[in-house]
Amino acid sequence: MSSIRLLLDNNRAWAEAIRAKHPDFFPRLAAQQAPRYLWIGCSDSRVPANEIVGLDPGEVFVHRNVANQVVHTDFNCLAVLQFAVDVLKVEHVIVVGHYRCGGIRAALEDSAHGLIDNWLRHVQDIAVRHAALLGGRDDAGWRVDRLCELNVADQVLHVARTTIVEEAWRRGQKLTLHGLIYGLEDGVLRDLGIEADSGTGVRADYARAVEAIGRR
Ligand code: CO
Repeated sequence: MSSIRLLLDNNRAWAEAIRAKHPDFFPRLAAQQAPRYLWIGCSDSRVPANEIVGLDPGEVFVHRNVANQVVHTDFNCLAVLQFAVDVLKVEHVIVVGHYRCGGIRAALEDSAHGLIDNWLRHVQDIAVRHAALLGGRDDAGWRVDRLCELNVADQVLHVARTTIVEEAWRRGQKLTLHGLIYGLEDGVLRDLGIEADSGTGVRADYARAVEAIGRR
């Protein structure tokens, strides 16, 4: 069997199982989506958004890229964020990193991988910003995991500083930003302690989160 045939067969079985349990599931979803969450995560195949938080199709709007970054000139990410906030009116934006992230490791190693190195320069900027913290231990694995955490905290700050989120907060829209990190080894999501619904709130939570990361 070709590998794409396997996907089609899996899909038929999946759709059939859902239809058998909830006959109105697909017609209801086809009519409209109303997700409460926007997930900004890593493209890593081991960190699938819906599965690890037990959400069905229709419950989470998803943007993924290498090392879960929010870059202020990335119109792909900004378009997803704008649509999620302004049109879908999601209540939560969650930046989800993961330990042992290959993108983060590559950024720290400073080795050549082609075009993607340009994308990872942004992660290197974050490493420079937190050089003192990251120099706290002579342990490559520790530094990768700390930068995975710091990257999440900094990306939440980037989300907060987009015109999209600033405008939403200015007009009083209910929108909370979060920073989580996922353990590939145990399947568990950890909260970095950022739960912000204002510009001042996010800066305070960010400072606390970075301080806590420095103590690990
Ligand atoms: Co990753």
